[in-house]
Amino acid sequence: MVKFGVIGYGYWGPNVVRNLQSLQGAQVQAVCDKSPAARQRIHRNHPNIYVTADAAEVMTSPEIDAVAVVTPVWTHFELAKEALENGKHVFVEKPFTSNTKQAEILIDLAIQKNLKIMVDHTFLFTGAVKKIKQLLQEGSLGQLYYYDSTRVNLGLFQHDVNVIWDLAPHDLSIMDYLIEKSPEALVATGQTHLNGHEDVAYITLYFPEKVIAHVNVNWLSPVKVRTTLIGGEKKMLVWNDLEADEKIKVYDKGVKITSQEGLYDLLVSYRSGDMWSPQLEQVEALRHELTYFVECISNGQTPFNDGAAGLRVVKMLEAANESLSKRGALVYL
Ligand SMILES: NC(=O)c1ccc[n+]([C@@H]2O[C@H](COP(=O)([O-])OP(=O)(O)OC[C@H]3O[C@@H](n4cnc5c(N)ncnc54)[C@H](O)[C@@H]3O)[C@@H](O)[C@H]2O)c1
Repeated sequence: MVKFGVIGYGYWGPNVVRNLQSLQGAQVQAVCDKSPAARQRIHRNHPNIYVTADAAEVMTSPEIDAVAVVTPVWTHFELAKEALENGKHVFVEKPFTSNTKQAEILIDLAIQKNLKIMVDHTFLFTGAVKKIKQLLQEGSLGQLYYYDSTRVNLGLFQHDVNVIWDLAPHDLSIMDYLIEKSPEALVATGQTHLNGHEDVAYITLYFPEKVIAHVNVNWLSPVKVRTTLIGGEKKMLVWNDLEADEKIKVYDKGVKITSQEGLYDLLVSYRSGDMWSPQLEQVEALRHELTYFVECISNGQTPFNDGAAGLRVVKMLEAANESLSKRGALVYL
């Protein structure tokens, strides 16, 4: 039984607590939130869980093996560091930290103390991303050409970070997982309209082997869109995460270009074959992820979404901010 303390019971914290409570191998020992209203909500939803306003109580409790940090990004480093220093494994929300230096310190500390860090890159545990990974690994799509994601909606405005730090970690962690290569450079553009942080932004990432990725993130969209296009040499797919069924559609479409000796014109042929929608696993991603974290702790295994994976995403976010500040200058990673 892995005993957890959870810090932060705002929007996302309740999902972490509910899922941990439902696992066979885990138990939530205490939940901490600075806000009295949040503490009342914990009491109401989980009358048997110990509630506190003082994070130090969770950090130093000998009853607790692992701490989940579900607070705003600017607090992740201090809270995760304190947990590691007190010998606790750490589950920390995305984005891992506010900068690469902090991420490196936490990774070193976890190694020194022989503790696990898992960064909550929830999408990696969805049926959709698992299926796309499988299609790429078995070569169904052929050589990858591009990844193009639109992740827009109205709000929720964050007070401490821009829309890139809020929404793009999802896409960046998915790309990191699917493409399995680090980008060479990126360009980010955006604009600030309301609260001093960019609320509309576009990132273009250049990966090795001519793979290009684009992410459109926006808090000022009248409609919610969660659509990703992934194009390969053999097949292309559309992933609409808002679809209840048939979230992924794989199209047997492609283009072939040949040139014949003696002909100046290129011969272009288009292929338009069948479309199919693969069956996806239906388990709640966070439940899957937390089950895996408990297994990693119990078996001494390093999670694939560990601190190093969190650091790779933070590097891209940091580079995106640098490019934004220079109105879209190319930044090498
Ligand atoms: N994985 C996902 O899909 C996903 C979804 C939403 C949010 N998140 C992440 O979860 C984190 C929290 O986001 P949120 O939307 O729940 O934020 P939120 O502001 O709704 O909630 C944060 C809570 O933490 C509490 N808190 C802050 N500092 C604290 C401290 N030092 N000690 C105790 N309590 C403290 C606040 O009182 C608040 O109740 C962020 O890092 C965010 O990026 C992840």
